[in-house]
Amino acid sequence: MTEHNFISKAYSKTLERGKVTWESPSNIALVKYWGKKKHQIPENPSISFTLNECKTMTSLTFTKKESSHDFSFEVILDGEKKDDFKPKIQTFFERIESFSPFLKDFHFVIDTKNTFPHSSGIASSASGMSALALCLMSIEKELGSEMSEEFFNQKASFLSRLGSGSACRSVEGDLIVWGKHKQITNSSDLYGVKYPFEVHENFKNYQDTILLVDKGEKQVSSTVGHNLMHGHPFAEERFNQAHDNLSKLIHIFKEGDLNSFIKIVESEALTLHAMMMTSMPYFILMKPNTLEIINKIWRFRRETNLHICFTLDAGANVHILYPEKEAAQILEFIKSELVAFCQNEQYICDRIGFGAKKIN
Ligand code: PMV
Repeated sequence: MTEHNFISKAYSKTLERGKVTWESPSNIALVKYWGKKKHQIPENPSISFTLNECKTMTSLTFTKKESSHDFSFEVILDGEKKDDFKPKIQTFFERIESFSPFLKDFHFVIDTKNTFPHSSGIASSASGMSALALCLMSIEKELGSEMSEEFFNQKASFLSRLGSGSACRSVEGDLIVWGKHKQITNSSDLYGVKYPFEVHENFKNYQDTILLVDKGEKQVSSTVGHNLMHGHPFAEERFNQAHDNLSKLIHIFKEGDLNSFIKIVESEALTLHAMMMTSMPYFILMKPNTLEIINKIWRFRRETNLHICFTLDAGANVHILYPEKEAAQILEFIKSELVAFCQNEQYICDRIGFGAKKIN
């Protein structure tokens, strides 16, 4: 597959108006994507669990307009007009126009809401961009484009990637690989694919409790962070390490080796933040309570031998990952010892999910 495969052929139908709705989840990376080339091509492959509860629901209403010179759209978040989202969507439309050539023919109302609290520090770009890309794919289908379900998902993921890199891992579940990796033959830099190999029972219905440590605006955006990997002194080694970690995970997933899984996942999280701390300019996104939580998790793991571990994305919040069969004890520990470190004691109980859904 190359980019050219995603250029639409002429549409066989015309549409005056309509409405499509999709619900798409967030995802949490186990091997992290940090560093990109032009057009959101990742510097290294990544793998993520698709989430189940943290989702964006987007309805896209479209009405045919007179002229096809410009993009025309409005954005509504939680029932209120949200003009500050417009520049990001304008950029997204510009990037995907050659693949979705109907964009300038319609006026769009993008009506969106998230299941997780607004400005909770949970990135809504993965769920939000994938929900929007899926709505656009549904319109393309209504315009008469013939395609298989596999192609629909591939192109939805491809478009999502152009909105926000990690969004391409949200279309399907439950384990998604994005970025070319030599052992995963169908993997691609252009879109996410389902992890194709055997996964042990231990990893089925894996739990993710998200501790909301800091709900403030990030001081450094992901875009700036990714760019700081250009010329970063440790970049090449980091990209090689991501390839190696993904190779190791293949065996770990097959054998159900939870202890080795923990080592890779926690090392990936800390390496991501180490890259931030060793960029020029350098920055820190963790907060004191992030470290308090990490230390408590380590102590609890030593004392109980339960398979609890943490991961982080580009922020201070902590994702706590654990197998379903240990959920009762671990959740008890989270509530009694960790929730106190969250802003307003807020946390979200999530688990692995299976991807986006069309809402009729
Ligand atoms: O999708 P972006 O550009 O917001 O980058 C997200 C990068 C991380 O969340 C830090 C890691 C990942 O692979 O999701």
